[in-house]
Amino acid sequence: MLAIIGGTGLTRLPGLTIDHRQVMRTPYGEPSGPLTFGCLDGHPVLFLARHGHGHTIPPHLVNYRANIWSLAEQKVTHVVSVATVGGIDARLGPGTLCVPDQIIDYTQGRESTFAQYNGKPVSHLDFTWPYCDAMRAHCMTALAEAGEDFVAGGTYGCVQGPRLETKAEIDRLARDGADMVGMTGMPEAYLAREIGLCYAAIAVSVNWAAGRGDSAAGISAERIETTLHDVMERVRGVLTRLARMNY
Ligand code: HPA
Repeated sequence: MLAIIGGTGLTRLPGLTIDHRQVMRTPYGEPSGPLTFGCLDGHPVLFLARHGHGHTIPPHLVNYRANIWSLAEQKVTHVVSVATVGGIDARLGPGTLCVPDQIIDYTQGRESTFAQYNGKPVSHLDFTWPYCDAMRAHCMTALAEAGEDFVAGGTYGCVQGPRLETKAEIDRLARDGADMVGMTGMPEAYLAREIGLCYAAIAVSVNWAAGRGDSAAGISAERIETTLHDVMERVRGVLTRLARMNY
């Protein structure tokens, strides 16, 4: 089954016919909210709002382990994360959709593994290509079918938040090779890998990153709101197509 993790601007999925909601408890505490089981265009999906129903959980306080654990517990096999980003690369202006293929993790202090001391030899998991190829391919097919232009690949720099960055920080991210900046990609992607879920992200640029484009003098919250509203409408169309595929 497909799970959709909705980020900022996607705390609900209009068009989802809701079957039931399930409150989950995990060894890591509670996820961001109840899991919503329903159908999108007649196809079963599970929806989870990353920041909680009323968008009350900031990126650094999301219980990523409980979220991912809950999905795996419910027999989810594939996950698409919808994640807003600031565009660093010139191709990633506001309103652009992208399926990233790399991550740089700048976060600190987040619980980022299910591994614990259990007396067994430590194993280190491959994370060379952090997203699942099959799920990335599904996302790109759905984007194309929805008639969207999108950027096929790119490096997602995940920062701690909740504050936005300075211009110098964005310049550094750019030198590191980051094409976009967001706050929630990690440890979510890694936890999905650890637990065996096929995970990919649709990154939604809602602003130019600090110091770039029309954010040269600062990032306008109003600008983000307007872009979010317009672009999430398009993302819903992509998700409907994504739900139609076989999982
Ligand atoms: N920086 C970090 N995270 C973000 C941004 C940004 O500019 N826009 C949306 N999420």
